[in-house]
Amino acid sequence: MVTAAEVLDSSDQERPTTDTIPLTVRVRRFNPEVSEDSWWDEWTVRCDPLERLVEVLHQIKWHHDGTLSFRRSCAHGICGSDAMLINGRNQLACKVLAQDVSPRVTIEPIRGLSVLKDLIVDMEPFMDGYRSILPYLISDSGEPEKERRQSPEDRHRYDDTTKCILCAACTTSCPVFWGDDGYVGPAAIVNAHRFIFDSRDEAGRERMKILSEKTGVFRCRTTFNCTDACPRGIEVTKAIQEVKRAILFERF
Ligand code: SF4
Ligand code: FES
Repeated sequence: MVTAAEVLDSSDQERPTTDTIPLTVRVRRFNPEVSEDSWWDEWTVRCDPLERLVEVLHQIKWHHDGTLSFRRSCAHGICGSDAMLINGRNQLACKVLAQDVSPRVTIEPIRGLSVLKDLIVDMEPFMDGYRSILPYLISDSGEPEKERRQSPEDRHRYDDTTKCILCAACTTSCPVFWGDDGYVGPAAIVNAHRFIFDSRDEAGRERMKILSEKTGVFRCRTTFNCTDACPRGIEVTKAIQEVKRAILFERF
């Protein structure tokens, strides 16, 4: 019988060994208790080429500067906590490998939301936009006796927009949002799309009324930044266009 120790030993032998690589990480820092202005810090660390950037930030925080602040949770591209401006592009730090940015990477907080500390921004205006579109199923038809049935075709209609993880990468890459924080932003519209095109929902018109306001969907200038930024591969601009058309032609 193979013992647990032997299994561990053999898995160690089979694990591919990789050389570490140097990575210089430059971070825009901000701490209102230290200075009114932001400043840059940089550290050079050695890391596994396949290490994710969020782990490199952990390495810096745990071994070089415990004051470095950033949000993260799942480390697997699911919770949406760690959207950052990485080499000028909004990305999730847990989905970027060290080898893809070596030997040097610049990290800044996402734009258009006020910075609380280092890479942590105030997400409340973003969440206000999300909440404003009623992001939950609304039905006045009463409780069904069984489940609410839906055909595969009807389910497919909004499949793409169910993938949103509310990371804010789209909204904070949008030049309209940068200039007007009253604009609900792409993420709110994506989540409105998810319910407007759900055949079980009965509040599509209410959401479309909300999105017809001057803070709504017609503020979009179709720059495609949002689609490029989305780490879930959601066709954000397409969803926005579908909501615009649904409002213009009252068809959804
Ligand atoms: S649409 Fe994509 S980029 Fe925008 S919040 Fe959702 S997951 Fe993030
Ligand atoms: S830490 Fe959860 S998405 Fe990156």
